[in-house]
This record gives sequence, structure tokens and C-alpha cells, in this order.
Amino acid sequence: MSDRLRRLRRTPGLRNLVRETRLRAADFIYPIFVSETATEPEPIPSMPGQSRLPLTAVAAKVKEAQRLGLGAILFFGLPREKDDNATSSCAPHGIVQRAIRTAKEACPEMVLMTDVCVCAYTPHGHCGVLKGHEVDNDETLRLLANMAVSHAEAGADVVAPSSMMDRQVGALREALDERGFMETAVMGYSAKFASAYYGPFRDAADSAPSFGDRASYQHDPANIRHARREILADEREGADILMVKPGIAYLDVVRLARETSDLPIAAYNVSGEYSMIKAAAERGWLDERKVVLETLTAFRRAGADLVITYHALDAAKWLNDN
Ligand code: PBG
Ligand code: ZN
Repeated sequence: MSDRLRRLRRTPGLRNLVRETRLRAADFIYPIFVSETATEPEPIPSMPGQSRLPLTAVAAKVKEAQRLGLGAILFFGLPREKDDNATSSCAPHGIVQRAIRTAKEACPEMVLMTDVCVCAYTPHGHCGVLKGHEVDNDETLRLLANMAVSHAEAGADVVAPSSMMDRQVGALREALDERGFMETAVMGYSAKFASAYYGPFRDAADSAPSFGDRASYQHDPANIRHARREILADEREGADILMVKPGIAYLDVVRLARETSDLPIAAYNVSGEYSMIKAAAERGWLDERKVVLETLTAFRRAGADLVITYHALDAAKWLNDN
């Protein structure tokens, strides 16, 4: 009997000694919704525990994240005005631009990331400029590049294009370099699938498409080789970090991204994944703390260096009192 595998599982000390994957608060990225019209935090019904924040609540939230040791914050904006050219997405005093300035002032060391997409800034809710009923790729690239530059001007450390236009990473990299933002990093939403798990986010960000869906720009959930092509393209275009999204149902893609590239890999534990666990926990059907830590461990085990998660603050607290 040489295969006495239980020998190393016998005590907490032994299990801790041989644990292969460890969670740290510093690996978590916390997404925050900032609203130009909110006057106080507005709880998001489909995402229990998450709120849309007014600008005045941003500093305190970022400080809390910093105190808990989180790795970064990812900002999403809800503008007051929407139009077909997503004008407010590039405004120097737009909601995300102001949130970044506020956050930088409150916590200069915290890593600040921004989502670069226009679906929350257009009345039709698509992730780009429309020509008829189609999203025009190259017209949208110009808009995304301007948006990213205005985020960099405000002090963003990392800009993350999520619109799934072809060459979005390259377009951002070129525009940033031209404007002197050589040090601003780009995190590509490289393997972003057309997923129903984004439902609660679209309520939160008021960004659901008013007609059709996003299948002509986001990946088909059935395709992993096609997603790999975009992982490779984003790396060639100069991405600093690659992302896979959603997470739980796509851990095979996380593993593939890890094996395909030496860049840091981020996985997005998206809104629907968060809300499923919250809903089951509220009913007493799941132990929230255990399920969340197990899930986050699975992301890391699959090969993600970073996990973008709405559970970040809670998970950091749980890890700190372990
Ligand atoms: C917008 C965007 C979405 C998410 C991040 N950026 C939604 C979408 O593509 O419809 C999803 C995040 C989540 O569900 O938590 N381009
Ligand atoms: Zn979008």
C-alpha cells in the first residue's frame, strides 16, 4: 500500500503545508458602479450587497478596498446623458473621469482600472457606434481610443476595453502612446463570450441592448479555438493583461489562456455568477462564505492570476479573519 494519499490530508497543519493554491486579497479586483445622477448609494436589486455609488461615496469605498488589501478597483460609469455618439464617455468631467480623480486623491497607491465601452452611454445600449442595425467596428475604435485617453488623463493606471471590436487593444495602445500615456496599461477583454450571465450587470449599469443582442461582437459560448485567436491577437496588439469572461462556466478557457500566453491572466467572476450565489445563500441553500472561497480558489487553480469579483470586499474580510 504505497498510495496512502490521506496521510497528507490528515490534519489542518498538513493540509495547509501542501496547499497548492492560495487566495490573497491582492489578487482581487473590485468592480464599482459610479452614477452621475445618484445622490446616495442606490442598492442594485439584482445584485444584493452592491450599489450604484454617487461620486461623494467613491473615496470611502476606495479607502475600504485599500484597507482590506485589494489589488485594484475597476470603474463602470452611469452617465446622466446618453446619445448615439456616447459623448459623455469622453468628457473630461465625465463620471468615470471624476471618479478616477477622486479615487487617486483619496488613495494614490491603489491601482485604478476603467472599463472602456459605450453601452452605458448610448440610448440603444450596444457597445459601439451604429450604422443601421450593425455596430461599426472602426468608427467605434476611434471612440474607444478617445475614451481611454480621457481615462488616462484623469489618472487611470489600466484601461480595459470590453466592447469586443476587432483591434480594440491595438487602437487603445496607439492612441495612448501618441498622447504620451506610454505607462498606461491595457487589459484586453480577450475572451469575452456572449453570455446570459451578464443579466444583473445590465440592470445595474442600465446597458441592455434595446434591440437584438451582442452575438455579432462577443464570442460564441460554443467556441474555444476562436477565443484563442483573439487571445493571441490581443497579445500581439500590445495587451498587458488578458481577460476571460464569464468565469465559472469558462474555466477551460482560463486554463487555455494561461497555457497560451505568459501575460497575466484575469478572470471575470461576472454579475450572474455573483447573484446566483447570493440568491441561494439568502435562502439558506448554500453556505455563502464557503462557496465563495471555493469558487475563487477554482479560478486561481484554473490559472487566473487575478479575479475580478463583486465578492472582493467580503472575501478579503474572510481571508483576513482566517
Ligand atoms: C459592457 C460590459 C458588460 C460587462 C462588463 N462590461 C456587459 C455586457 O457586455 O453586456 C459584464 C459584467 C458582469 O456581468 O458582471 N461592455
Ligand atoms: Zn459594452
